[in-house]
Amino acid sequence: KQFFGMSAYFWFEGIPFPAMLYKREIIKESRDKFVIRDEDTVIVTYPKSGTNWLIEIVCLIQTKGNPKWIQSVPTWERSPWIETKKELSMLINMEGPRLMSSHLPFHLFPKSFFRSKAKVIYVIRNPRDVLVSGYFFGRNTNLIDNPESLGTYIERFLKGNVPYGSWFEHTRDWLSMRKNDNFLLLSYEDMKEVTICDFLGKKLEPDELDLVLKYSSFQAMKENKMYNFSIIRKDVNINGLVLMRKGVPGDWKNHFTVAQAENFDKVFQEKMAETSVLLEDLS
Ligand code: A3P
Repeated sequence: KQFFGMSAYFWFEGIPFPAMLYKREIIKESRDKFVIRDEDTVIVTYPKSGTNWLIEIVCLIQTKGNPKWIQSVPTWERSPWIETKKELSMLINMEGPRLMSSHLPFHLFPKSFFRSKAKVIYVIRNPRDVLVSGYFFGRNTNLIDNPESLGTYIERFLKGNVPYGSWFEHTRDWLSMRKNDNFLLLSYEDMKEVTICDFLGKKLEPDELDLVLKYSSFQAMKENKMYNFSIIRKDVNINGLVLMRKGVPGDWKNHFTVAQAENFDKVFQEKMAETSVLLEDLS
């Protein structure tokens, strides 16, 4: 085990996981034994890319804009995490078609997925905003991290010494799926509900789509307490775990110095050279 800030981490196949949230044997079990079924849909993201937003949208698409489900059932029961113990067992016993979420990198994802017709929706977000979002998320808690300063967090982020490892590798590896029919790539900056409906084979009327938009807006989500961590983890300090922080693209500009942004850019160019992803597309 090693510490980032105040939090203990363990490494599994090159990826650091916060020890208070994850267990090595569960990560291994979900990769090797968990059976993904053809009719499943999996929301996959690098942390802080808009996971909860997409979960809300997909749930609302399923109910054609009716908010009853999202307002009465917590996020992690509507779309359980593949890589945590309680939710993995929830998923195993769940009737299909199942919706589930994961932050797992490509090489740790359930092997059964690659033999299935299940769908993956992957969200990509400007990594500078992902970084700032993660920095503030971890700032006041010892649950996942407690970075001393943005500067040190940037250094760790660029090396992949943050929860779930390197953003660059996560993104690059998952993007290798982008030509597959069962893979949809979305960006936080350009979240398109209609594209999601098409991918999921759902046809919604314009007024139903309006409801999806209405109930998945930043403000509506902030008021819906069903994503709030405090209803399950009474044992941890959750004061600083603000999931709904600002919800805008480009907040990094308020926090990075010019030198930090230039350095980030340089590393981005090196690491993403072989992909077609450009920072400019994500702002
Ligand atoms: P910020 O910290 O930049 O505000 P995740 O769900 O993957 O943890 O991502 C969290 C980020 O998504 C936070 O970013 C949060 O504010 C943003 N977010 C959540 N719901 C949103 C919504 N409805 N619209 C826009 N951004 C949203």
